[in-house]
Amino acid sequence: MKRNILFVDDNETMLELYRMLLTSERVRWEVRMAGGGAAALQLLATTRFDVVVSDLHMPGMDGVALLREVKRLSPGTSRIILSGLTDQKEIAECLQETHQFIAKPMQPKVLRATLARIGGLDAYLQDESIRGVVAQLDTLPSFPSLYLEIMQELASDNPSVEQIATIVAKDPGMTVKMLQIVNAASLGLGRRITSPQEAVQQIGLSAVRSLALSAHIFSCFEHTELRGFAISQVWDHGMRTAQLARKIMELERAELSLAEDAYTAAMLHDVGKLMLANNLTEPFQRALTLTKEQGLPFLDAEQKVFGANHAGVGAYLLGLWGMPAIIVEAVAFHHQPSRAETKSFGPLTAVHVANVLEHELSGFKPPGSQTAFDMEHLKAIGLQNRVDAWRERAGKLFQPDG
Ligand SMILES: [Fe+2]
Ligand SMILES: [Fe+2]
Repeated sequence: MKRNILFVDDNETMLELYRMLLTSERVRWEVRMAGGGAAALQLLATTRFDVVVSDLHMPGMDGVALLREVKRLSPGTSRIILSGLTDQKEIAECLQETHQFIAKPMQPKVLRATLARIGGLDAYLQDESIRGVVAQLDTLPSFPSLYLEIMQELASDNPSVEQIATIVAKDPGMTVKMLQIVNAASLGLGRRITSPQEAVQQIGLSAVRSLALSAHIFSCFEHTELRGFAISQVWDHGMRTAQLARKIMELERAELSLAEDAYTAAMLHDVGKLMLANNLTEPFQRALTLTKEQGLPFLDAEQKVFGANHAGVGAYLLGLWGMPAIIVEAVAFHHQPSRAETKSFGPLTAVHVANVLEHELSGFKPPGSQTAFDMEHLKAIGLQNRVDAWRERAGKLFQPDG
């Protein structure tokens, strides 16, 4: 099925460029153009768009005001803004209205990748109810503008550790969390890492982007407190699951970059819980109560209350923010990997297995937590006999000499 996309720009040449770029994608996208905010709103009144891409600076209604209207009229629409890095102030203003930024000057390959990712998301998360829940979340952690800077530096010809460390250091919250992550990940190193520079070096340029985002997301939720639900436990559980997931990838001799993806996905696998707990506190509390009083598995309780669960919600948002599809998929199906399209070993398997093992090992079992392996998935990928080996290695990982 074709999806509708609307480009809004007061610059004719840009609109022409978009049209050209999407010619080869005609089977997938139905492309419409508008020369400004007012014209865009007219189109929005009669057509449902899956994606709106708008320029930031336009005469009359600017991009921020337009996307605010799009959000109100059609909350399920993906909202993308094109902006220069010098527009920091405006970026900060439109964080709540925008799912993704594309930096100016626009690079065709970045636009193509962004659209492919959004198109691909539906394959995982066709569920309209997830979109419905996401649309109700209005105090999401803002899209970190530093993240945009990091992406730009990484996309440059010669990305440097120093430059990225300088960017990270601008955000104290992100720096603190990042150091925590790195120090937890390099337990065996025997020394503490204390500077962003060392941290970036340790993490490696390939993983720094996802880690910066994870660090940012968690630092946003630090002060949320809910009855019967500790944010710090989600963080600790995420960090330990991440270490386990990477170890499982290593044991199965997976490529290093895939192991890094598994690590990031595992760290963020339950982030949907934070989003639901923080935004929809009362219904989230109701789901917790259903679990406690009626013994309903937490996933079922979420499904009953929200019509969706934390795995889907978390994955959807990570996808909108531009996380790689392999990470989004691992988060989306971490409780039921057999429902995913991927039928081979990878980050999805590692995150699923690590999550179950972490619950087993830590004894951190919130009522109703899903602690069983999805044997259908493990059989499908021929690794059902590896469970004991993973469990044994996992047990050693958190011993003082492990
Ligand atoms: Fe979960
Ligand atoms: Fe979990």
